[in-house]
Amino acid sequence: MDFYEVLEKRRTVRDFSDRKVTDEVLKKILAAAFKAPTNDHLRQFEFVVVRGQENIARVIAPLAGNIQGFTEKNVDALANVMDKDEYAMFTDAMPKQQKMLAESDCLVLPFFFHKGSPLLEPECLSSLNYFASAWAAIENILLAATAEGLACALHIPIEQEAEHVKQAVNAPDGYEFPCFIAIGYAAPNAHLPRQKAVNVEDRIHQNVWQPSTPSAR
Ligand SMILES: Cc1cc2nc3c(=O)[nH]c(=O)nc-3n(C[C@H](O)[C@H](O)[C@H](O)COP(=O)(O)O)c2cc1C
Repeated sequence: MDFYEVLEKRRTVRDFSDRKVTDEVLKKILAAAFKAPTNDHLRQFEFVVVRGQENIARVIAPLAGNIQGFTEKNVDALANVMDKDEYAMFTDAMPKQQKMLAESDCLVLPFFFHKGSPLLEPECLSSLNYFASAWAAIENILLAATAEGLACALHIPIEQEAEHVKQAVNAPDGYEFPCFIAIGYAAPNAHLPRQKAVNVEDRIHQNVWQPSTPSAR
């Protein structure tokens, strides 16, 4: 697949079929992580691949309660503060957080080595370089999966989810967990929320920031 076609085709898919991802394809996809730029050149990423309903249920155990609590508290309030594309995505995505991770049947848990100030208490912007590098690697994984005809969904751990995952898989000290990555084949009827329309020309400024025209947003 041409690179720009991969960019166009990559979408967050939250509805998976039961077709399995082979270890061979998964290895190719995860290898893409090590082609991303990293702040320290060390590429200290590790992946725990979790397969099988019981194993996945064990690592995502806290999600059910967290998502329910979050949804009950926030959905109505968010309708007033989100734009309509964001809200449409959100109302589709929220109820699927747990199911999408379980149904992919190939849940990848990425870990990155982090040192310096605590991840959630950065001293300066470069304290976040390990985190930023991890996300560059994650984007490579998403693109490689797309090129292989696969689809992915992300879930950012909330509340105690990251600590739960670290303990459940015996992650060594110093490693951080940025997100769950569900990898699988899209269900034939997978719902894709409307993509935000962006006119690139409106977002590129020459020398100084030009004010947006009313049609630009
Ligand atoms: C940093 C980051 C965090 C995200 N967190 C979640 C998440 O917790 N749950 C989820 O379902 N999708 C999550 N997403 C996916 C976004 O909702 C999705 O990328 C966005 O709606 C645009 O849709 P697209 O990926 O199909 O282009 C996340 C994406 C990014 C880059």
